[in-house]
Amino acid sequence: MQRISVVGSGYLGVTHAAGLAELGCEVVGLDLDEAKVARLARGELPFHEPGLAELVREHVTSGRLRFTTSYDEAAEFADVHFLCVNTPQQPGGEVADLSHLEAAVHRLVPLLRRECLLVGKSTVPVGTAARLAGVVADLAPAAVAVRLAWNPEFLREGHAVADTLSPDRIVLGVTGQESEKVLRDVYAPLADAGVPFVVTDLATAELIKSAANAFLATKISFINAMAEVCEVAGADVTLLAKGLSYDPRIGDRFLDAGLGFGGGCLPKDIRAFAARAEELGVGDALSFLREVDSINLRRRARAVHLVREQCGGTLDGRRVAVLGGAFKPDSDDIRDSPALHVAEELRRGGAEVTAYDPVANDNIRRHHPALVCADTVEDACAGADAVVLATEWAQFREVDPEALGTVVAHRHVVDARNALDPERWRRASWDYRALGRR
Ligand code: UGA
Repeated sequence: MQRISVVGSGYLGVTHAAGLAELGCEVVGLDLDEAKVARLARGELPFHEPGLAELVREHVTSGRLRFTTSYDEAAEFADVHFLCVNTPQQPGGEVADLSHLEAAVHRLVPLLRRECLLVGKSTVPVGTAARLAGVVADLAPAAVAVRLAWNPEFLREGHAVADTLSPDRIVLGVTGQESEKVLRDVYAPLADAGVPFVVTDLATAELIKSAANAFLATKISFINAMAEVCEVAGADVTLLAKGLSYDPRIGDRFLDAGLGFGGGCLPKDIRAFAARAEELGVGDALSFLREVDSINLRRRARAVHLVREQCGGTLDGRRVAVLGGAFKPDSDDIRDSPALHVAEELRRGGAEVTAYDPVANDNIRRHHPALVCADTVEDACAGADAVVLATEWAQFREVDPEALGTVVAHRHVVDARNALDPERWRRASWDYRALGRR
């Protein structure tokens, strides 16, 4: 049985650790946060992810998964060490902050006592793995062979368990056949299930990840750019997307126009990718990602504009309900959330904003203390001059517009995710406005 350590027990690390335990490996998950490790050891997650707490509990109980704060324990236990620490955007800059990754390598590698493989999973600027391979060689004790590979992760929040246990593909960036063999052994059940493997050099593996997120962000901004045109041309972007989707070369996924992309990955990854291209002297090649970013941010401003219009041209003293706070449904992650960006802009414009999210309320209260947070849709909307649907949770789609109409002050709704049925809301006498539709 493979003995694995997973360094970093954030979103990616916990999912990967539990996924590998499910695939039959013995896994120790490492994090420096004692409180987090204690919760995980009890099978409690520090974040919301459908199905993951059950998987963690199952394998903590089966004995294949445990958590620790000790680098010594991880070094002593495992033959393969996955690096799953986060690489956020640097404060005040666009480039990725690699300090957690560097720190993990500096802590772990000097403790290694036998031949092993370090495997980076974090999203990094191209060239990082090759540089870290040199650092690893310098830090490894004499006569201990420590290799480095890069195995980027493509999981989506809200679908993390399924994406880990049945991924679209496994990308292995390696410098030799030994590393490839170790990783093929780790992922053998996935290979048996027919998951395709792409084996590359380190730089290509890093770039596949950056390119994947850049492509997804571009697809979303493409349809949101079409939404801008639809708004002035009197057209409907949802039907436009439908009209495109039957072309199999285009497809129907990631063409939902609305408030655009947020979260801890796409926004910071496209900025870091563009910044890295500039460092490498090919900034022009990725300058379109700046435009992708601008289109994305303009959608947030447009949603605020629509609310202001509905409120008679001013937000001052108006009561606005924002339904949704998470950056997307089935997640409590509010990092760079378009919904909360809109909520804060409305508040800064003078509105009294009440937000409600089915699972992200605790995070909203902690990080956005100036917003009022309600515990139900009805409480959020009581007395509202306008309602904004900002995250397309299933429960919001099912709201009865007639019933909700009885609690608001004015039947004004901005459907910023194109999630509601316009006819139904208009029949209930709502002034229904959306992004990219008449
Ligand atoms: C994204 C990628 O989809 C994953 O493949 C990748 O592994 C991950 O980043 C990462 O780098 O870790 P995630 O951030 O969980 O995953 O979220 P997505 O499902 O990609 O959604 C991102 C944002 O785009 C959300 O705010 C969502 O509301 C928005 N979106 C998505 C749209 O506005 N329109 C769409 O059609 C699709």
